[in-house]
Amino acid sequence: LIGQKAEKEGYKAYAIGGFARDLILGLQNFDIDIVVENNAIEFAEKLVKYLGGKLKTFPQFGTATLTLKDGNKIDFATARMEFYPFPAAMPEVEETTIKHDLYRRDFTINTLGFKLNSPVFGDFLDFFNGKVDLEKGIIRVLYNLSFVEDPTRILRAIRFESRYGFTIEEQTLGFLTNALENNMLAQVKPKRILEELKLILSEKNGLLSMNRSIELGILEGIFGEISNKKLLIRALEETKVHINLYKKKEIKVDNEFLIYVQVILSFCNEAKQKEFLTGLQLDKSQLEDFDFFFNNYQETLQSLKNPRYFSASEIVETLQGYKKESMIVLLALSFNSTVHKRILLYVKEFSNIDIEVTGEDLKKMGLQPGPVFSDIIKKLRKEKIDNNLSSKEEELLWVRS
Ligand code: CTP
Repeated sequence: LIGQKAEKEGYKAYAIGGFARDLILGLQNFDIDIVVENNAIEFAEKLVKYLGGKLKTFPQFGTATLTLKDGNKIDFATARMEFYPFPAAMPEVEETTIKHDLYRRDFTINTLGFKLNSPVFGDFLDFFNGKVDLEKGIIRVLYNLSFVEDPTRILRAIRFESRYGFTIEEQTLGFLTNALENNMLAQVKPKRILEELKLILSEKNGLLSMNRSIELGILEGIFGEISNKKLLIRALEETKVHINLYKKKEIKVDNEFLIYVQVILSFCNEAKQKEFLTGLQLDKSQLEDFDFFFNNYQETLQSLKNPRYFSASEIVETLQGYKKESMIVLLALSFNSTVHKRILLYVKEFSNIDIEVTGEDLKKMGLQPGPVFSDIIKKLRKEKIDNNLSSKEEELLWVRS
């Protein structure tokens, strides 16, 4: 239908990128990107009258998103022709514009597409040998400065590598390393970097990409010096284990991505922590949790390291200020140690202990509400946590005494 409409209205439309790439790989991808010559917004505005649905346009980018009645989305972009160091003189053929548009893209495997116009519908576009690279499992840039012009492509490269089990081609890896050595990632705003990291970590093989990013020095290119790379890899793996354990027990874990970032930031210096905390655009309560965590976690881990005996209530006192998401970070940072066991005891047992005596019970005993109340409750809870009280009767007896 899109192709018919394009033909009728005098536009050229192509299905490009991820959709075509995954189709050839035999994978499902409902994310359809359509490139239009010469004006995607105008075309999409005509199309919405024909297909129905809701259209959102972004004139500053020459793009539009059409949400169809069934909820599926189609993105439209105007084919772009800005100057790039194109290797050979461009023959003045029919597909000049789309070829230029594809040449500005990240990797050859993303330059594949299909013509949509009705008379040529389905004609395959492969100007840069993307299909061969796709079949060989190779990630290759189209021009030397690709990573310099858009350093986030460094993160896309390792994301595609792990997602498809592909390899970054040798020369491309050279360009990537070069961009890293020239500190290109430090030029990118934390917000953009975090968006890319989020995409990486939401992939099934996200941790593989994270390992690769540490191995290639990408993470250091972003976060500066990392105190212990091997430990960071291990901590990220542990994070995944604990998130999954929580989920298995049907404990809701909010914003997994933030937990991973918290782990990474624990290995960075304070300046980077601050810079990225701003980039995360946290809400007030998240910011308070993060602040609490970064102000206290080192001291907490250090104090729990002490080999002396810790009563249950002491462990609770040490850990009760942390949110459950931060508890995952503490667990990830302390694997296989006394500290880890103490945190686990807190998570599994002590944090769930609650007293049965209520404020009403205290009132009935003739006590006046006020600071005394909370003091009694606090001490009562301590007694209960240390396992000295096993029923409400015993709790009441303890209060009376
Ligand atoms: N693109 C690019 N450089 C970037 C981001 C995107 O050249 N930094 C190009 C890619 O060629 C990509 C297209 O823009 O094919 C669309 O981007 P996006 O939707 O992010 O990529 P997909 O390839 O569809 O990736 P995914 O499968 O993860 O959605």
